[in-house]
Amino acid sequence: MSVPIITIDGPVSSGKGTVAREVAVKLGWHLLDSGALYRVLGFHAERIGVSLDDESALIELAKSLPVRFVEKGGDTLVILDGDDVSDTIRNEQVGELASKVAVFQPVRDALLGRQQAFAQSPGLVADGRDMGTVVFTAAPLKIFLTASAEERARRRYNQLKDKGFGATLAALIEDIRNRDERDMNRDVAPLRPADDALVVDSTALSVVEVVDRILDEAQQRSLLSV
Ligand code: DC
Repeated sequence: MSVPIITIDGPVSSGKGTVAREVAVKLGWHLLDSGALYRVLGFHAERIGVSLDDESALIELAKSLPVRFVEKGGDTLVILDGDDVSDTIRNEQVGELASKVAVFQPVRDALLGRQQAFAQSPGLVADGRDMGTVVFTAAPLKIFLTASAEERARRRYNQLKDKGFGATLAALIEDIRNRDERDMNRDVAPLRPADDALVVDSTALSVVEVVDRILDEAQQRSLLSV
């Protein structure tokens, strides 16, 4: 039997990273954080002096990216050229680098096989923007996780506050609306639910409720071995 896959796509700050990790831990399945791959690529390009406009150099870099994902407990360490960059790649600046390299279709193509290689027994939870629409089109359970812009901004605001960064809620709502607009209207891999995706609006749901909803759905579709 082929490896069962649950894809979780959605807009920025929809909580998909947290939900995907929880689902993977609960099921004991592998986790693909595809955003981390784009982040590592942007970070590595900048570190070694490759211009983010140089498409052909980025394609070569994407093909040979010296990155390893090491699963450790419920966490995944991101090892680039022997350095643990798990935390470094999480900041906003690296997010910007990632969004720039992600617009080149051949760069995305170069990362495709690397992402698909995560589909290993006993199963995979894949988190990103195009997991259900491009990378794992045959996945038996596709989730599109969303929430209102206001709620996503509020979550982001709390995250930033916890880390000691200042921000205003109004500015974050504006920022999220702009990013949605950009993500959904870009020519390359625009963010949209797969035709066969289940759209889950988490505006009024807790992480636990969303995770339970996904696990129920996986159960109903007989994805979980007993
Ligand atoms: O989910 P994230 O914030 O870590 O993603 C970082 C960037 O990479 C974001 O700008 C969108 C892009 N990305 C993408 O284009 N396709 C994916 N499958 C995952 C992320």
